[in-house]
Amino acid sequence: MNDARLRRLLRTALAMSMASPALVAVSCGAATTTPASDGGTTTPTSTTTTTGTGARDATSPPVDGGPAPADSGADGAIVDAAPDAGCLIQATLPPDDGCTRYRALRCDAVPEAGFFSQKECLALCPADSGTPAFCNVQKDAKNNAYLACMYCVIGRRPPGLVPVEAAEGTATGAYFADASHLEAASVEAFRLLREELASLGAPRSMLRRASRAEEDEVRHARMTASLARRFGAVPGEWAAAPRTEDRPARTLEEIALENATEGCVRETFGALTAMWQAEHARDRHVRAAMEAIAEDELRHAALAWSVASWSRARLDVAANLRVREAMRGEIERISRDVAAAPPAGVLVDQVGLPDAASTAVLLGSLDALLWDESRAAA
Ligand SMILES: [Fe+2]
Ligand SMILES: [Fe+2]
Repeated sequence: MNDARLRRLLRTALAMSMASPALVAVSCGAATTTPASDGGTTTPTSTTTTTGTGARDATSPPVDGGPAPADSGADGAIVDAAPDAGCLIQATLPPDDGCTRYRALRCDAVPEAGFFSQKECLALCPADSGTPAFCNVQKDAKNNAYLACMYCVIGRRPPGLVPVEAAEGTATGAYFADASHLEAASVEAFRLLREELASLGAPRSMLRRASRAEEDEVRHARMTASLARRFGAVPGEWAAAPRTEDRPARTLEEIALENATEGCVRETFGALTAMWQAEHARDRHVRAAMEAIAEDELRHAALAWSVASWSRARLDVAANLRVREAMRGEIERISRDVAAAPPAGVLVDQVGLPDAASTAVLLGSLDALLWDESRAAA
């Protein structure tokens, strides 16, 4: 798929989402407007604004580029006095996946509204996967509560990425610190993709697009690092060069599987989310950054669709079915996560992340305009 066609599709999806959210949401099976939890939407990520202690919000940083104020939610206790600090709710936890990790909750740590602030997520979620974008309470089949921590944000992650400690500072600073680390990791993802495609005889034009994407991601890493510092992220592991574990060269099917989930689903949704943020972020520095990033991410997503059609022509029917199933699974995972966890107020406001209802609508638009059509064609 070329850049122009995908740009038209995403602009249509954005316009649909901003014009008639209720209508589009219906078209996405997993979409819901019920704020239950937020989704790693993978891309969008945010935390919640409300806990049992009440609503929270933050003000925008000064326009002179000075330090941003601390995010709201930083002072919230998860619970009042713990009746029994050693008590854990006995719930059946789903298996962790690349974007979401699940943990048992303390009996006294379930907020009334089911949501946690970003700071609470930082304290509750495993730090070895980086900064959680948001976390929330979910329930198993027996209605027992457990904690879901979502980590995914915009970008293509390289296989074997070694997680870093969560950034300290404000929620918005930590969000951009995590984004910066993942943007830097995307440089490695595109380098690897380019080398593997070259070894498999991919066209030169595709290799050049991967090479340009590498350069884009270097720039994105710098831009988001700058925003992280501006919003008060404390320098830490997130600012170091990402490390990846050594992996054997992948087969064409393995590349196609990763491209379908990371590129056709996550980068495409990431590009659309960045377009949304460019329109909705209250902070003008964030709007400007997201406008530039959205344009680049759109090209990266278009590259993913080109890689998908190139690899589809070289794989057999069974392999293509597995790729299609992986893509379907990723779309469902995003939709489920979004339905489960609403974005947090401070990030919805300052960073312009779509809230749960808007995210569901954006997903519904993409499903109707692009993913559904591509599944039929696969
Ligand atoms: Fe990027
Ligand atoms: Fe990208």
